[in-house]
Amino acid sequence: MKRQSLKLLLTKIIVVVGLLACSADAAFAQPGSIDALLNQPGIIGTIGLLLLVVVFVAFIAIIRLGRVVQQLNMPQPNSQERNLDEALINLSPAQLGKLVERHQSLVYQLVGNELAGDEEPRDERGLISHLSTDVHSPLVAEKKKTFRNGEVDPRLITLVGAFLLSATFWLVFGTVVGWYVGIKFVRPDIDHIAWLSFGRLRPVHTNVVFWGWASLAMLGLGHFVVIRTGNTRLYSYGLGWFSLGLINICVGIGSVCLMAGINNGGGEYREFIWPVMGLFVAGVGVAFINFYQTVASRKTGEMYISNWYMLAALVWTLILTVIGYIPLYQNGMGETIIQGYYMHQAVGMWFMTFTLGLVYYFLPMSLNKPIYSYSLGVLAFWTQLLFYTLIGTHHYVFSPLPWSLQTVAIVFSAGMFIPVLAGTTNFLLTIRGSYKHIADSYSLPFLLIGILFYFVGSVQGSLQAFRFTNVIWHFTDFNVAHSHITMYGIISFMLWGCIYALVPRFLGREPKQLLVGVHFWFALIGLLAYIISLMVGGTLKGIGWLEGKPFIDGVVLMMPFWLWRAIGGTMMLVSHFVFAYNLYDMLLHKSLISDSALPMPQAHAI
Ligand code: HEM
Ligand code: HEM
Repeated sequence: MKRQSLKLLLTKIIVVVGLLACSADAAFAQPGSIDALLNQPGIIGTIGLLLLVVVFVAFIAIIRLGRVVQQLNMPQPNSQERNLDEALINLSPAQLGKLVERHQSLVYQLVGNELAGDEEPRDERGLISHLSTDVHSPLVAEKKKTFRNGEVDPRLITLVGAFLLSATFWLVFGTVVGWYVGIKFVRPDIDHIAWLSFGRLRPVHTNVVFWGWASLAMLGLGHFVVIRTGNTRLYSYGLGWFSLGLINICVGIGSVCLMAGINNGGGEYREFIWPVMGLFVAGVGVAFINFYQTVASRKTGEMYISNWYMLAALVWTLILTVIGYIPLYQNGMGETIIQGYYMHQAVGMWFMTFTLGLVYYFLPMSLNKPIYSYSLGVLAFWTQLLFYTLIGTHHYVFSPLPWSLQTVAIVFSAGMFIPVLAGTTNFLLTIRGSYKHIADSYSLPFLLIGILFYFVGSVQGSLQAFRFTNVIWHFTDFNVAHSHITMYGIISFMLWGCIYALVPRFLGREPKQLLVGVHFWFALIGLLAYIISLMVGGTLKGIGWLEGKPFIDGVVLMMPFWLWRAIGGTMMLVSHFVFAYNLYDMLLHKSLISDSALPMPQAHAI
């Protein structure tokens, strides 16, 4: 009853906030003067969102630091204890033998296996915790051991493993390129090679991380989810490998073509020429057939919500890539509308929709409890479909496109509050009461940060679509910050969370907890340095332009902010190498630690 009234209240809040967000005032208002800009709700809201992230991360960091300080303040041995230590060290062998004998008789107790014999004790459901007080590192929390799930088909392990390894290869390659492109902002003369010029490498970075890293990781994880949620077998392993091959070839050839200067023109994220992008479309088409047939043969009555999201994302992506490439509307204003549609559907209907489907499975799985509300998930799904498909033109606010079309895009961008609020509340209410598990899990910290950025990045996106904020931020580095809050903070963090949740269950091999901690903190702190510097710099640059300052002033102003981006980017890149090692350690490393040598479960803060 209480749960039902809470759901009702939530639905009411979502509807009211959504309606308020859609109010024409918020979308149409324009600043009277530049001084008044900083008083605008869009700007204030964005600063508030940024503070939310900083406070959240500071909170986690303070808890960890407190723990370190606590350990450093542990009482040191006094002089009496030290004398005793010395006396013990100087004992003769005979005295030592007697002492050991006495000690053994004092501590003798039943070993606990008198009834079970030599059977290894197992705790597959993780019911027993705190079996040891031995803290290995004060900086990284001890993680709960994940037990191997013996029923997984070895063919599935190989297929999903191949998807994840390919994805990780493209992540490392794509972000080495991104890092180099970032360095070029502070050292533009670093090379004079055409293949490495900014204009060629930038699309290599974006296309590789889009189609190589995020898409392959999503599809790999999706192959597991579609089987598990339907309690069935994969329709065809052959199709799975075929789809993996097609997408890998697409990204490989596409990158070489872009570096050689062979491209499709200026349309962002569709720089691959059509025969190359055709391979991607074919790969997604094959995956759709495989997923659809697997869902059709499910043994469960209901179709779990994850499958709604994944199947829909596959269909929408097929539609949008065909629309983006079909040789119609490829000139003038028509082309601009299609570009806006294509660009935002790629991020919203492919990456966001598919990844949400994965989180609807991996979050409850990691917490060992069901999702809070199926209905909220369905509400988020349909409202996402309603609002997302019409917001593409918010990329071209103040352009010569029809004013009414821009207004529709802005109002629908504000409408995105509804699915975002529904999704975030659903996830947070699922986690409610289980926050202590975040500390002893490899995957939950990544998922939690992904959820935080899902809220922050999307709401910030809605605020950015308003005319009074877009007039400052459009064309500035602020956009690049938004892209990384979303594609990195949401998508990449969520994917890492899902990968750390799944892979140890495949083979029973744990990553090294210190290295998972290094991956998490380097990626997070690097991202914060990246986005905060570009958001601040981008805003100052935009205001400068509005005040009529020359373009070059904006370039000079941005130098320190680009340097901070390069520093943050370097940390992010380091974290990707660490992640690649962790995946290798879990999937391919031969010398395994025996189960008994693995740390026992123990709870700490993240
Ligand atoms: C080491 C980590 C990374 C670094 C150093 C980095 C760096 C960069 C740089 C320098 C740009 C060009 C910005 C400009 O033209 O002003 C860029 C653009 C972009 N990157 Fe990254 N990146 C990284 C990771 C990622 C990841 C993992 C993703 C996606 C999963 C991603 C998605 C994008 C997107 C979408 C853009 C286009 C931004 C826009 O036009 O608004 N980046 N990145
Ligand atoms: C409520 C949801 C969102 C809204 C309302 C929104 C809004 C916006 C707006 C207004 C822009 C363009 C700004 C301009 O050009 O002046 C933009 C750009 C962008 N957004 Fe979002 N965003 C949302 C969610 C997302 C998500 C979830 C992702 C990624 C998964 C994403 C990725 C991007 C990228 C990559 C760009 C840069 C596109 C370019 O290259 O110009 N956004 N967004």
